Parts: sequence; structure tokens; C-alpha cells
Amino acid sequence: MKLFVCGGAGFIGSTFVRQRMREHGDEVVVLDKLTYAGREENLRDVAGEPGFRFFRGAIEDPVAVVGVIEDCRPEAIVNFAAETHVDRSIAAPDAFVETHALGTYVLLEAAREHGLRYLQVSTDEVYGSIEQGTFTEDSPLRPSSPYSATKTGADLLVQSYFHTYELPAVICRGSNNYGPYQYPEKLIPLMILNAIHGDPLPVYGDGMQVRNWIHATDFSRAIGHVLEHGRAGEAYNAGGPDEQTNIDVVKRIVELTGADESQIEHVTDRPGHDRRYSLSSEKVRALGWTPKVRFQDGLEETVEWYRENGWWWEPIRSGDYREYYERQYGRALS
Ligand code: NAD
Ligand code: TYD
Repeated sequence: MKLFVCGGAGFIGSTFVRQRMREHGDEVVVLDKLTYAGREENLRDVAGEPGFRFFRGAIEDPVAVVGVIEDCRPEAIVNFAAETHVDRSIAAPDAFVETHALGTYVLLEAAREHGLRYLQVSTDEVYGSIEQGTFTEDSPLRPSSPYSATKTGADLLVQSYFHTYELPAVICRGSNNYGPYQYPEKLIPLMILNAIHGDPLPVYGDGMQVRNWIHATDFSRAIGHVLEHGRAGEAYNAGGPDEQTNIDVVKRIVELTGADESQIEHVTDRPGHDRRYSLSSEKVRALGWTPKVRFQDGLEETVEWYRENGWWWEPIRSGDYREYYERQYGRALS
């Protein structure tokens, strides 16, 4: 296949690109705005390969989007491009509205005009929080943060293009991802790097919130399955095999890094913090997908990757991220 991957320089997008090129022989063209979270280094393994092209640009820019389509003639758009951090959406929602609402609209229009299939990468956060049981694709959409609300808006727009224009569009909703190349604003890489540096480990509230962890390679395979076998107009959940409280995850990272539990600090809770996410993935399992990486193995391998790849995170920790960190946590990194 020849894929147009938007947001392919981010954490999951770059994992998906590597996987599709190596394991499926796909050709890929990436369009990425290279926000603070997007990095060409994430794609350095495939950068020189024939069948790979990279363009810097925004999905809300129709000239950039149509330019790539006319130049490269892809068969399908896979849209990862997003602002992805809930805490940043609470502090400044504007970029979330622009990328998720306007950007998704521009991509859908381009797909319609050029006869392309379309896959929207989405999140379990569109369903909101669930104390017991699991969300299915038929659960009501009740997002709580500006991040999840704008992602929900994008999902609804995608479905409207199927119903109104018969655009062959599908949605794949993942649970919390982890693995190599994840920007250290998110729980797992933040805790690994802080643990290694002897910095405090800031746990929001009581730390008893539950997340359903999925390795980025498993989520990427689910996206590939939905792209190849999903029914147009449908959404598919892809949740990981393990649910964990945040405090248990942080304690395990303390063990794996040889840090000290005294580094754990309970800090003010996130406003509107969702207590628990849990996804039923029966529908995508029926397409032949199953998650392969157990959380305990994936976490160990992820800690090892961050230990061995300082070249990747050192420029982040010494750059703008420091300012973000001070603003968010009210203290400096060591
Ligand atoms: P990320 O923040 O690591 O990467 C996002 C990428 O999108 C970056 O490369 C960034 O430069 C690019 N981008 C942002 N705005 C853009 C724009 N307007 N135009 C073009 N490119 C733009 O995010 P991620 O964790 O890899 O998430 C990828 C997708 O998966 C997102 O749609 C997210 O909502 C979804 N998702 C993430 C998780 C998770 O746990 N990280 C879970 C479920 C779903
Ligand atoms: P995060 O990685 O931001 O993902 P999401 O908000 O999309 O689930 O956070 C995962 C969980 O970890 C969430 O319950 C918030 C919590 N958390 C902390 O306790 N401390 C932190 O410093 C961060 C970044 C997150």
C-alpha cells in the first residue's frame, strides 16, 4: 500500500511508519508540522529508504495536504496528527481545536476529493471515565477534557463524512500507549527520566486512577488491521491487556530504575481528572488482532530503551521542555 501518514513524526505515528515499511513493505509519505512533540529523529531508521518521503506542514493547511496528495498519489490517509497532552489542553486549548477540528476537516475534504480511504486515530478518552466494566464502541461519548472533547469532535466529523458522502472512513480508538520515543511529558517516560535523574516523581492526587496500557507496536498493528479489514463507517477499540493504577506503575518504575520510593510525591490533582479508562477490544479482535506485549515485559524493555538512548531525550530535557516542566510542576529539573 502507499500510505499518507499525518503526524508520522510523533511517538505512535513513527512506530506505525517503521512497522508498515518493515513488516508490510508499504510505501509511506509523512506530513508533520513538527510541533514540540514531532521529531524527524523518530524516523531516522527509515529516512533514507526508497519508498519513504517526508514533508513538513500542517494538516489544517489545504495547500500542503493537496500538494502531498498530488505529488505522491497515496491510496489512504492515516491521521495521527494531534495535540496529545491532556495537561497542555487544560492550560491552552486553542491548538487542540485548530488541529483536531480544522485539521481533520481539511484531511476529510482532501480524501473525498481525491477518492482516498481514511483512518482516524482516536482515543479511549472520547468515552470519558468508567468506574466499573469496559467501554464498547456503542458506549456514549462523554469526553471530559479539551483534549478528549476535540478528539471526539474529530471522530464525529469523520462519521459524518461516511454517512453524508459515503467516504470510506474508519476510526481506531486506542487506550494509553507506552514504549520507545514517547515524549517525556506523559506519565511513563516522565517517571523513567525523573527516576534516573533523582528528580521527584509527581503523582497526581492519590495515584489510584486506572489506565489500560497498550504497547505502541500493538496499537500500530491494530490500526493496520482496521485499515485493511475494518468496515467503512465503523469505529474499533484497541485496548491493552493490562490495567494498572498510576501509583503501581510509578512504584514498578522505581524498582526497574533502582530509584528510591522517597522520590514519589503526591501533588495537586489534574482538574477534571478521569478516574478510570477501560476498553473492550472484541470487535477488533474479531478482525484477527490481539495485543502481544504484556505490560510487565513492555515496561522493562521501555526503561531499558530510555537508559540506552540518551541521544534521543537529552536535547528534549535541556530544551523548551524545562520551561514546560517548571510551569506544570512549579519546580526545576535537576
Ligand atoms: P505525539 O504528541 O507524540 O505526536 C503527535 C504528532 O502530530 C507530532 O509529530 C506533531 O508534530 C504532529 N502534529 C501535531 N499537530 C499537527 C498539525 N496540525 N499538522 C501536522 N502534524 C501535527 O502523539 P502520539 O502519542 O503519537 O499520538 C498520536 C495519535 O494517537 C493522536 O491522534 C492521539 O490522539 C492518538 N492516541 C494517543 C494515545 C497515547 O497514549 N499517546 C492513546 C490513544 C490515541
Ligand atoms: P498521561 O500520560 O498524561 O495520559 P492520559 O492523561 O492521557 O491518561 O497520564 C496518565 C495518568 O498519569 C493520568 O491518570 C495522569 C497521571 N499523571 C500523574 O500522576 N503525574 C504526571 O506527572 C503525569 C504526566 C500524569
